[in-house]
Amino acid sequence: MKIKSAEFVVSNSEVAKCPNTLIPEYAFIGRSNVGKSSLINMLADRKSLAKTSGRPGKTQLINHFLINKNWHLVDLPGYGYARVSKKDKKYFQKFITDYFERRSQLISAFVLIDSRHEPQPIDTAFMEYLGKRQIPFSIIFTKADKLKPQALERNIETYKSILLATTWEEFPNYFISSSTNGIGQEEILGYIQKINDNLSV
Ligand code: GTP
Ligand code: MG
Repeated sequence: MKIKSAEFVVSNSEVAKCPNTLIPEYAFIGRSNVGKSSLINMLADRKSLAKTSGRPGKTQLINHFLINKNWHLVDLPGYGYARVSKKDKKYFQKFITDYFERRSQLISAFVLIDSRHEPQPIDTAFMEYLGKRQIPFSIIFTKADKLKPQALERNIETYKSILLATTWEEFPNYFISSSTNGIGQEEILGYIQKINDNLSV
């Protein structure tokens, strides 16, 4: 997919105020600092369409971007609270779960995982949450440039085997990305394009 245009549309604190159109959308979610906003800029071929930061917690709102005038990219804040008490299982902020449960324009989500880390409870819990609600998603392993190819491959294999041994019968569709060198751009955009093409026939 060629990016012909990429425009910021609006930021909202609640799903009810998000654009009231039928434009299909794709949301990027994951822990704070995993690289959601950087990935959106990389995909859109724009340096600072979405705001990024070295400090976690930069994105605080639901941000809509219009790509090629026909689909939305959605940048979300990181999920999870800093400290989660076991008995109060409120893992995810309400406006994030509201977004996923109410946003009928959402076609598919991308759950971003830092490729350097082993499965973290908050990420696996979020994927289970999506699975239970039958919300389609793919995984994106981010910051691939920070690892040597062999280590990257090993980490992904470990990630797969842990998920397959615990919750998932089949490993979700996944991509590998780096916002610094553009790895994954073609694959992710191609995937979105294919879905969009199927929607319009
Ligand atoms: P929040 O908005 O706080 O939830 O974070 P985010 O997930 O949007 O992360 P953001 O894109 O702001 O990136 C966080 C930090 O990671 C920044 O310092 C980025 O420069 C860095 N970063 C993001 N993607 C990559 C990548 O692919 N490679 C490398 N080396 N650094 C990255
Ligand atoms: Mg962000």
